[in-house]
Amino acid sequence: MSELRQALAEQLAEAVFQALTDDLARQERVLLVVSGGSTPVPFFKALAAKHLPWKQVDITLADERWVDEQSRDSNAKLVRENLLQGAAADANFVPLTTGDLTPEEGVEEVAKRAASLPWPASVVILGMGGDGHTASLFPDSPELTLALATDELLVAVRTPSQPQPRITFSADRLHQAKRHILHITGDEKRTVLANAMSGDDVRQLPIRAFLSCPLAIYWAP
Ligand code: 6PG
Repeated sequence: MSELRQALAEQLAEAVFQALTDDLARQERVLLVVSGGSTPVPFFKALAAKHLPWKQVDITLADERWVDEQSRDSNAKLVRENLLQGAAADANFVPLTTGDLTPEEGVEEVAKRAASLPWPASVVILGMGGDGHTASLFPDSPELTLALATDELLVAVRTPSQPQPRITFSADRLHQAKRHILHITGDEKRTVLANAMSGDDVRQLPIRAFLSCPLAIYWAP
C-alpha cells in the first residue's frame, strides 16, 4: 500500500465520519453506500475505527457481483471483513445478493430490501474502473441505457466485459444522496477521469453521470 493511498483513505474516513455525525445530529438513521473492488479496503479499515453510533448506521453497496458471499469476488465479503469490524459490526448491513437465485430472479427481493433504507443516502462512495465504469454501470452494458434513462432503481447487469453477472443501483438511485465521493486509485485512470470531465457522451464513460453531483474526488496514483 502506498503511503499516499493510505493517507487518502484516512482522510476519506474522517470526511465520512464527519458527514455521518452531522446527519445523525438531525436524523435517527443514516445511510452509507459504498463500492467494492480493491481501492476501498484501507478506507473501510480506517472508518471501522471511528466512534460512531453504529447501530443507527445503515450500509449497503452501490453494486455487487452475483457470487456466493464466500467468494473472494464478493463485495459483501469485502465489507464484512474490513468495515463491519469492532464497534462498526453493529451497523445494519444490507447486501445485494439473495443466495441461489439468478440476478434477474433476485433483483425484486433485493429492491424491496433496499427501498426500506433511509434514502437519500448521507454519502455515496463510488469507484471507477479503467473503462470509466462506476458501480456496475459499464460502457458496454445494455442495461446502461435503462439505468441512466429510467427510474429502474436496481438492475441486473450482464455485460460482455464482465465474467460474472452483477446487480447495481441505477444512476437515478445513486444520485439520491446528499454527498457523492469518488474514491479512485491507479495512475492508469488519470486519462479516463480527465476524458470523463471533458467528454459529452455519458454512455461512453458512465462515471460522467456523477461528475455534476456535489462531489469530492479522492484520487491517488
Ligand atoms: C466493483 C465496484 C466497481 C469498482 C471499480 C474500481 O464491484 O468492482 O463497485 O465499480 O469501484 O471497478 O475498482 P478498483 O478501485 O478496485 O480499481
